[in-house]
Amino acid sequence: MIGYSRQSVDDSDLEAVARVLKSDFLTQGPEVEAFEHALCEYTGAAHAVVVNSGSAALYVAYAAAGLKAGGRLWTSPLTFVATANAAVMLGAEVDFVDVNPSTGNLCPRALAVKLEKAAAENALPDLIVPVHLNGLSCDLSAISTLAERYGISIIEDASHALGGHCAGRPVGACQYSKATTLSFHPVKSITAGEGGAVLTNDAALARLATRLRHHGIERDPEFWVRSGQPGHYYEQPDLGFNFRLSDIHAALGRSQLSRLDHFVEARKKRAHWYAEALEAPGLALPPLDTDHAWHLYAIRCAEASQRDSLFQALRAEGFGTAVHYPPVHRQLYYEKRLGRIELPQAENYASRCLSLPLFPGLPRKQVERVAEIVNGHLG
Ligand SMILES: Cc1ncc(COP(=O)(O)O)c(C=O)c1O
Repeated sequence: MIGYSRQSVDDSDLEAVARVLKSDFLTQGPEVEAFEHALCEYTGAAHAVVVNSGSAALYVAYAAAGLKAGGRLWTSPLTFVATANAAVMLGAEVDFVDVNPSTGNLCPRALAVKLEKAAAENALPDLIVPVHLNGLSCDLSAISTLAERYGISIIEDASHALGGHCAGRPVGACQYSKATTLSFHPVKSITAGEGGAVLTNDAALARLATRLRHHGIERDPEFWVRSGQPGHYYEQPDLGFNFRLSDIHAALGRSQLSRLDHFVEARKKRAHWYAEALEAPGLALPPLDTDHAWHLYAIRCAEASQRDSLFQALRAEGFGTAVHYPPVHRQLYYEKRLGRIELPQAENYASRCLSLPLFPGLPRKQVERVAEIVNGHLG
């Protein structure tokens, strides 16, 4: 079975991990900072705080940006549930903004309408979280113009988009946002096994995020409230979990990051192979956008029923595909919280999309075979 995505691990990754295993620090050692430094270098962000999952990165970013019980966060319904869950875990209310029908990304026009209504009802959100779906960045310039008008901060969920570009800068530069979060799950652009990061240009947010990944403990004496303490002292000004990334994972992440451009290039090449080979009538293909990180190659069938039978047909031939995503507002948990919300563009997109296999080592023969099955099934 060929899955829709998978990691690319080589000997240099094995050596990086083995070096840590032979060292004095399996966790809380120098690899964590080295990975953070490398992420800043790559993205242009001033600060990086690595954590043990993309979900933890969202929680920490939201909390460090000031989201709390009674607060409000708006995001895209076409995302992994973690984007919304992290806000609910902080006691905030989540709501969803409809998407652009061809990219599936949060739609600035839908946002403008929703903001205007919320302003009139005195119910504006504290945070807006655009998600760069499949690796194609959102229109952050338009979204941030709206957010600024209402004094709302943006956090980017860039779990799909490390290695891509947004408005001419690397994703993660936080050109328009207070922070950007990443995931290093094995299907993503690079992997640390599990892992995530918060990127930001805001030194205070980075400091708080660093605290929040370590139980809320402040390790730097310069920031202690109580001065003149003995060497064994430490101070806990906030409440946090253990969201630390181990040095073993950080070493793998840093080793992978050194090959990120190669990974994106390899994925892009396969996206072009698909674009050449797919020719079924009514099939919508993703735009061959130069900013794309190509985390996923998501096609859209003309009809939902075609998508579901195509999923089965590909599976029968040994190809795994996936739906990114069943809309979050239609999950049982969110229907119980929010009632039944209508977001027609998101529902329409989600009923027709399918992510085909795409990863750096995928042979051209397999891409062509997948395309043949799709063309045959939909033709
Ligand atoms: C858009 C998005 N947000 C958040 C996450 C959560 O990341 P993780 O699985 O590393 O916790 C994922 C990962 O699946 C994701 O795709």
